[in-house]
Amino acid sequence: MTSYSSLSILALDGSHDRSGFHCGVPALDDYLHKQAGQDVKRRISRVFVATTPANPRAIAGYYTLSTLSIELGQLPDKLARKLPRHPIPAALLGRLAVDRQARGHGVGRMLLVNAIERTLAVSDQIAIYAMIVDALDEQAQRFYEQFGFSPLGPGGHRRLFLPLKSF
Ligand SMILES: CC(C)(COP(=O)(O)OP(=O)(O)OC[C@H]1O[C@@H](n2cnc3c(N)ncnc32)[C@H](O)[C@@H]1OP(=O)(O)O)[C@@H](O)C(=O)NCCC(=O)NCCS
Repeated sequence: MTSYSSLSILALDGSHDRSGFHCGVPALDDYLHKQAGQDVKRRISRVFVATTPANPRAIAGYYTLSTLSIELGQLPDKLARKLPRHPIPAALLGRLAVDRQARGHGVGRMLLVNAIERTLAVSDQIAIYAMIVDALDEQAQRFYEQFGFSPLGPGGHRRLFLPLKSF
C-alpha cells in the first residue's frame, strides 16, 4: 500500500503524469489534464502537486494559487471596520483536489497547510490580507471550515476566507 507520510509538494512540471490524476470531480480533473500547464506558462496561476517518494511522477493531489482583491463590502462588518476603504489584497486557493486512491490519508490537509505556509512566506514581500477559497459544495466547505476558514459576506456563495493575521 502507498504511504503518504513523506509527501513532496512541488511546482507542477513536465515530469508529472497529469493525465493519471482522477479525483472524481470532472472540472478539477480536466483542469489538471488540459489547462494547468497553460496557466502556469502564462503566469495566471501557480500549480503545486503532491507526490510520494515511491512514485514521484504520480500526482496524489494538487492545488492552485493566484491573487485577487476583495471588496471591503464582502468582508464581515467586524473586520471591514478596521480596514481602509479600498480593495483588499488576497491569495486565491482556486482549486484543491486529492486523487481518489489517496483520499483519507491526510493529503488534503498537507496540501492546505502547504498552501497557507507558501502564502505566508510570500506575504513577507507582498502584502496579502487573507486567503480565499471557493468550496465546490457543502462537504468541501466543511473541509475548509475545520481549518478556520469562514464564509465571506452575503452573495459570496461558497467563497470562504482566512485572515493571515491568525498565524
Ligand atoms: C476534500 C478533499 C480535498 C479532502 O482530501 P483528503 O486527502 O481525503 O483529506 P484528509 O485525509 O487530509 O482529511 C483532512 C480532514 O478533513 C476531513 N475531510 C476529508 N474530506 C472531507 C470532506 N469532503 N468534507 C468534510 N471533511 C472532510 C477529514 O475527516 C480530516 O479530518 P480529521 O483530521 O479530523 O479526521 C478530497 O476529498 C477531494 O479532493 N475532494 C474532491 C474535490 C474537492 O471537493 N475539493 C475541495 C473543494 S475545491
